[in-house]
Amino acid sequence: MTSSTFSDRADHVLHTAHQGGAWWRSAVIYQIYPRSFADANGDGIGDLAGITTRLPYLRALGVDAIWLSPFYTSPQADAGYDVADYRDIDPLFGSLADADLLIKSAHDLALKVIVDLVPNHSSDEHPWFQTALASAPGSPERDRYMFRDGSGPGGGEPPNNWQSVFGGPAWSRAAEPGTPGQWYLHLFDAKQPDFNWQNADVRHEFEDVLRFWLDRGVDGFRVDVAHGLVKAPGLPDWSGPMNMLDLVDKDLDRPPMWDQDPVHEIYRSWRKILDSYNPPSAVDHDAAQDRVMCAEAWVDPPERAALYVRDGEFHQAFNFDFLQSDWTARSLHRNITRSLEANDGVGAPTTWVLSNHDVVRHASRLGLPIGTPRPNGIGVGDPQPDPVLGLRRARAATTLMLALPGGAYLYQGEELGLPEHTTMPDAARQDPTWERTRHAERGRDGARVPIPWEEAAPTYGFGPTGRSWLPQPEVYGELAVDQQDGREGSTLELYRLLLRTRAEHHLGEGSLIWLDAGQDVVSFENATVQGRVRVLLNLGGAPLPLPDDAVLLAASGPVDEGVVPVDTTVWFTAGGHQ
Ligand code: GLC
Ligand code: CA
Repeated sequence: MTSSTFSDRADHVLHTAHQGGAWWRSAVIYQIYPRSFADANGDGIGDLAGITTRLPYLRALGVDAIWLSPFYTSPQADAGYDVADYRDIDPLFGSLADADLLIKSAHDLALKVIVDLVPNHSSDEHPWFQTALASAPGSPERDRYMFRDGSGPGGGEPPNNWQSVFGGPAWSRAAEPGTPGQWYLHLFDAKQPDFNWQNADVRHEFEDVLRFWLDRGVDGFRVDVAHGLVKAPGLPDWSGPMNMLDLVDKDLDRPPMWDQDPVHEIYRSWRKILDSYNPPSAVDHDAAQDRVMCAEAWVDPPERAALYVRDGEFHQAFNFDFLQSDWTARSLHRNITRSLEANDGVGAPTTWVLSNHDVVRHASRLGLPIGTPRPNGIGVGDPQPDPVLGLRRARAATTLMLALPGGAYLYQGEELGLPEHTTMPDAARQDPTWERTRHAERGRDGARVPIPWEEAAPTYGFGPTGRSWLPQPEVYGELAVDQQDGREGSTLELYRLLLRTRAEHHLGEGSLIWLDAGQDVVSFENATVQGRVRVLLNLGGAPLPLPDDAVLLAASGPVDEGVVPVDTTVWFTAGGHQ
């Protein structure tokens, strides 16, 4: 094949380049799940001190920032996404002093720090909810949450038919001795009551929480369930799927609990607070100091998702359509195009992601037959993914992702090619989904297993004592950091190469031009002021020769004699472009 086969569809330039733009437009951000990253004190649960000691590893990996899943005071009914005090650290993870040290140490290494904000609900052990329970129906204390009278005789039935994302009804009845109790809404676990975002106390409280963490030096927030804060007036019944994962790409009415227009006004008010720490209009404005917000919004179609990243709202929103793509050229091409077009329409970058703590790790997900609906956990007795195929495709998927213009999030351990723990004993499971679905869905524990640092150490170096809050699969030993460090062709070295090359060529700041290289191929050129890099992912049935003049920059797997094998992505320069 010669380079002319890659006919240039110049009419198809996507994503206006933002060379030299603000850091978050092209940043690679590494998600730390604190429970499972590094355990300094040996109690089997990762902690802030453990994270701080491992920061140099992340600096050397080549990421720009870290996002920490919640570390706040919490009964841990949903692994910390049930917050009882938004201004303190749970003793499981350490103290505010540990958080300060972590933030400072990260900054000393030029790593930005993004923390998780959970505004849709608190813990039922939050003082406000406890006070609400002790107060009368209709009281101002109750108005901060979503209390309603029940339906049916004596109010004994839930107020509407909504289901929890974790399974079972989205309402629980508050015990009120002497009187029939009201019900409260919880879109997630019964220990996660939803706030009422029409209530002024709630608004003021979160504005203050934002300032609290900004004053401590954080660089931004990942906002949990950003599409859920405001519910449709009257809370009408809903018979479509409740699980936000199932709503994507379905031709249904907008569900009354997700993506309601008034959420946007909340984010506009937050954006003003963030901007006040680095006013965009100031003559000495330094984009490197921007504080940012990233939306976790499972919203479809992409044009609705783009509303969250309009001027004056979020800086970033996870591209879950990309995460959910089928492993076909058609699906990847379509999702990349649609999201770039939608975000270009509002002047925002696209934020790519393949794995996080809520989904089956992509090294396992991509080892399932193409077209399998994304499972909510995999366990003993379920069809098992092909680990070799899964890893090969995962490496190709990441090599594709990191060449796309925009930002990207990595999930801890994916740089080691970690698979999901797909044979975890069910008795070890802790995700409320497992019980609430009456064992119909395994849930997310398999993606949350403590990560391996040293093959020969207890818990593969996660902590010093051999204790681990979830069991680790045996294969994590050979995938430990010390087994991959410096080993040519290891997944860790691939990630390091990709991140280095991406930075050198400013790929995050480029424009995408689709190339036509056949129907089972994803191929584009990423054009930056630095030059042009070509990207090719072979999804066909046969190896594909590279142009004669190709100079290889990176490859997700072995490329011998200029031939790209199936399920392999390559980056190269060609045709005199450099
Ligand atoms: C988000 C989090 C998830 C959590 C849920 C409820 O989806 O990522 O882990 O269970 O919100 O807070
Ligand atoms: Ca610990």
